[in-house]
Amino acid sequence: MSELEGKVAVVSGGAEGIGFSIALSMAKQGMKVVISDIDAKQLEIARQALEDHGADVLAIEMDVVKIEDWQNLAEQTLAKFGKIHMLVNNAGVGASAGSIEKTNHKDWQWVLDVNLMGVIYGTQTLVPYMKQHGEGGWLINVASMAGMGGVPFAGAYTATKVAVVGMSESWHPELKPHNIQVSVLCPAFVKTRINLSHRNKQDDYKNPPSDSSSSAGLSPKTLAMAEHMQKVIDDGLAPEIVGERVVEAILAKELYIFTHPNYREGVQKRSKAIDDAFARAEKSPLLAHMLDEEVVGFS
Ligand SMILES: NC(=O)c1ccc[n+]([C@@H]2O[C@H](COP(=O)([O-])OP(=O)(O)OC[C@H]3O[C@@H](n4cnc5c(N)ncnc54)[C@H](O)[C@@H]3O)[C@@H](O)[C@H]2O)c1
Repeated sequence: MSELEGKVAVVSGGAEGIGFSIALSMAKQGMKVVISDIDAKQLEIARQALEDHGADVLAIEMDVVKIEDWQNLAEQTLAKFGKIHMLVNNAGVGASAGSIEKTNHKDWQWVLDVNLMGVIYGTQTLVPYMKQHGEGGWLINVASMAGMGGVPFAGAYTATKVAVVGMSESWHPELKPHNIQVSVLCPAFVKTRINLSHRNKQDDYKNPPSDSSSSAGLSPKTLAMAEHMQKVIDDGLAPEIVGERVVEAILAKELYIFTHPNYREGVQKRSKAIDDAFARAEKSPLLAHMLDEEVVGFS
């Protein structure tokens, strides 16, 4: 019997794509699943599909940027299933690619709110319930390969995903004494509708008439970039594999979950560039006295 069996998982953005795939994989492990999403229609399709697989499901329409929606989700989940053991902070959006000066502030705010604040609100609301029952659990944050290094023309998206990796690294030791295992999923391209994220953009973040989610007013270069992105996503990994990979990795208690081993070399180059920069700092006469100083806050 899997250690996941009978436990309760909450998956944000669970109506489709990677979130749905994770919810399905958890249900196949015998977990009770709560899927939440801003897209009510797609959520109902997903609920039905999970039930068809024999899952015990609760579907909750919500917006991850609204903390009161998280509280409502917690109450509904506890009313139906009694406990919460796993939170998968998956809901996320991809803003249109654009240069520094062309990315508008509403798009920045949208991506920051959904991809970053959504994760913070979800974690702050549900972790206390996960601590309370003392049975331990799992916190799985969905970042991206963009969390492992800067992606040009995607500053807002990259900022949120680097932050999600960083928060996961902070929360991993913090939650260990509570037997809550933290993992951060960092996929490269997966075949989902991420490139059409603006389909569910909340009114508050729309910026007519030059909303960058529409192709009107975009330069040929930006349009070409968007077309290229669409192609690599269409050629991306099947989301079903991502869900199964998450199960495999959490059972192995992995902090970083990778789905694209072909990106290893790129991440190694970044790690080497950082290490080389330390080596130069070590050699600087300005800093020689720092080498014997105590290291604080890093294990
Ligand atoms: N597809 C990829 O190539 C890829 C790569 C790396 C990381 N990711 C990450 O994976 C996660 C899932 O994305 P996906 O690729 O499955 O995309 P998707 O667009 O197929 O699914 C995202 C889901 O999140 C929901 N959602 C969006 N805004 C929401 C909000 N405010 N509140 C609640 N739900 C909301 C959507 O309705 C949708 O069901 C995201 O965090 C994304 O950044 C995706």
